[in-house]
Amino acid sequence: MSPEDAATFCRVRPPTAAVSRGPLAPCHDGRVALEITAARLDPAMLDLPWSLPLEDWPTELLAALPRGISRHVVRFVKLSGTVIAIKEIKADLATREYNMLRFLNKVGQPCVVPLGVISGRATADGQELDACLITQHLQWSLPYRALFSQGLRPNTEQRLIDALAVLLVRLHLTGFWWGDVSLSNTLFRRDAGAFSAYLVDAETGEIRNGLSDGQREHDLDIARVNIAGELMDLAAGGFLADSVDPVAISQTILDRYRCLWRELTERQRFEQGDRWRVEERIRRLNDLGFDIDELSISTDIGGTTIQIQPKVVDAGHHSRRLFRLTGLDVEENQARRLLNDLDAYRAAQDRQNDNEEQVAHDWLSQVYEPITRAIPRDLTRKLEPAEVFHEILENRWYMSETAGHDVSIEAAIIDYVRNVLPGKPDEVTVLGVDTIEMPVIAMFPDVNQPGR
Ligand SMILES: Nc1ncnc2c1ncn2[C@@H]1O[C@H](COP(=O)(O)OP(=O)(O)OP(=O)(O)O)[C@@H](O)[C@H]1O
Ligand SMILES: [Mg+2]
Repeated sequence: MSPEDAATFCRVRPPTAAVSRGPLAPCHDGRVALEITAARLDPAMLDLPWSLPLEDWPTELLAALPRGISRHVVRFVKLSGTVIAIKEIKADLATREYNMLRFLNKVGQPCVVPLGVISGRATADGQELDACLITQHLQWSLPYRALFSQGLRPNTEQRLIDALAVLLVRLHLTGFWWGDVSLSNTLFRRDAGAFSAYLVDAETGEIRNGLSDGQREHDLDIARVNIAGELMDLAAGGFLADSVDPVAISQTILDRYRCLWRELTERQRFEQGDRWRVEERIRRLNDLGFDIDELSISTDIGGTTIQIQPKVVDAGHHSRRLFRLTGLDVEENQARRLLNDLDAYRAAQDRQNDNEEQVAHDWLSQVYEPITRAIPRDLTRKLEPAEVFHEILENRWYMSETAGHDVSIEAAIIDYVRNVLPGKPDEVTVLGVDTIEMPVIAMFPDVNQPGR
């Protein structure tokens, strides 16, 4: 980690603490000064009960959100109208993970956003407490165990593994070796029927200038073993369909990952006359959701063949385009879905030659917003708006298929709000789901023991 990446360091005296020269230097009344590492600090953070072990924090401070299994104590805390995630962990590990997450955020990787590290904690009677790593709670995200507790569509485990494979490829392309790839260390957001994956636990990660094939394979092997264990736990708890073989399905991460890696990085050779293949390669990568910043092109000595190799690839092609056009910040597949609808709107309005931004603006105000606004207030906690939009379009498609003719969007909305949405759990919170209650056998035999 370069010195520029090191977080701003400030020593702050919390309202109840006396001044101190260093961490854990006791004051005349036995209290100590907290050390806070943060780029920006919400002053309300100082009012939290840092002198209590995280496990003992009063429930009125906590947000009831689904939480995955973990070795450390993790709590979600309501703060200034948002929710933060706090993990109690040794100070050096907290700082390391904080810096790692800062780096990954800086290079645009999908992971939780770090807010700071609080160290120098001690109880009122001077007992030393571990530090706390604070991250922003990732809204609309679900741990895989919470997803399985809801009763799922078939193949969910495969869709999660696919999302994890994309995340792993992205991380590897930036030179990040994860070291603890697992479903538990990943958060999932719905993405137009699929999922997109976010890294949540960077504790074991390392940043390198580039990864060797052996290092990438090592991460893959860790992924395969961890996923098999996690799926076995689900199977043991009756959360997995009998037809799913945990070991066989965990293997699929290898193929998915390797295919994607090849598509993104492989050198391709073709005849001079086949230059359209350059365009084709770019398009294929775009379809996978990746942008090419640079394409290295070389010819052989006689100039008869051309070789191309994408040099820097970056995911989020569709979501970036949609964001530029409409300001909507959504997941990749959702963005693709919305862009398809925008293109259909443009064609239907016969506005192919109009300014793209203007058409997008009109589509937003005439199509997207009326649809997402049609959701009654009491149902808005069910799913995030872009996913609702996607599901309404799906609903219209199914209704049209059944009816054998086009069904209007208004009819599809009414049917969706009346018959589909009320049956879904409140995803903004999924209250009451504590995945720690679900059985864990393979990985963390002592996960429910206090004090971990
Ligand atoms: N910012 C966040 N947003 C949403 N959920 C979070 C966040 N941070 C942590 N969590 C939840 O807490 C769980 C545990 O976090 P994490 O994996 O970092 O803990 P850990 O103790 O380091 O895990 P491990 O046992 O793998 O070492 C995650 O699986 C996730 O469900
Ligand atoms: Mg973890």
